[in-house]
Amino acid sequence: MLKPPISRMGGKSKLRKTIISMLPEHICYVELFFGAGWVYFGKQPAKVEVINDIDKELINLFRMIKYHAPEVERMLQYDFSGRDIFEEYKNESIGNLTEINRAVRFLYLITQSFASKCGNYGYGTNTKPGQQIFYTETLKNLKERLRNTYVENLSFEKIIDKYDREYTCFFADPPYFETAGYANDFGEKEHLLLRNKLSNIKGKFILTINDHEKVREWYKDFNIKEVQVNYSVSREKKARGKYKELIVTNY
Ligand SMILES: C[S@@+](CC[C@H](N)C(=O)[O-])C[C@H]1O[C@@H](n2cnc3c(N)ncnc32)[C@H](O)[C@@H]1O
Repeated sequence: MLKPPISRMGGKSKLRKTIISMLPEHICYVELFFGAGWVYFGKQPAKVEVINDIDKELINLFRMIKYHAPEVERMLQYDFSGRDIFEEYKNESIGNLTEINRAVRFLYLITQSFASKCGNYGYGTNTKPGQQIFYTETLKNLKERLRNTYVENLSFEKIIDKYDREYTCFFADPPYFETAGYANDFGEKEHLLLRNKLSNIKGKFILTINDHEKVREWYKDFNIKEVQVNYSVSREKKARGKYKELIVTNY
């Protein structure tokens, strides 16, 4: 199984084997909320695959890995972990950068920041400096994996409209309900739109989401499986622990 080049809040590293084991037969596989893409990078490629996320910088990174992996690798050789470099990248105006430069910047910020949030330089007293910027070997494999994949940068509802067929499998891993974290808003309105869209598709869907009374109500007509996950993004010991997540399917 391949490992993604970045971490992302809510990434499905711990759940991916379970999710993959539950995927139905499909010809077209669509990830609506790609993030780091743990499931995509772990599963066997389907005939047609689509990855989508609304985050422009994130999608630009995967496009650059797909089309310009050797150049991204070459540029990464010159970077090392440092608070001053981190701040320079963070304050850089992306309008002046090439797409390759933007990908390198994003990779740097995400791998060198606390909890991969690109906000604050990540340092520790019992962890080594972020090393994931040296991904030379893996970029080649990731590039191969991405070769036959459509890379989209739209909001999820447009992707559902475009790719829904009887033989399509949608994997939906939206931002958690009532948990802050991503740049764009994803509240009850967006969650209900997702539920309504998924309720009316021709194809199949598998959705992962945090266990919440409202979420259970929204998806009460579908199959709901409860799973426990260890979650450890917080520095605070008391905030770490086991969380319940739900896996919802329409098959
Ligand atoms: C929980 S993360 C996905 C994690 C991913 N499954 C993984 O394993 O890394 C949710 C993602 O949804 C994206 N997102 C938020 N709103 C969106 C929208 N309206 N349409 C598509 N993607 C969206 C965020 O940018 C974020 O990357």
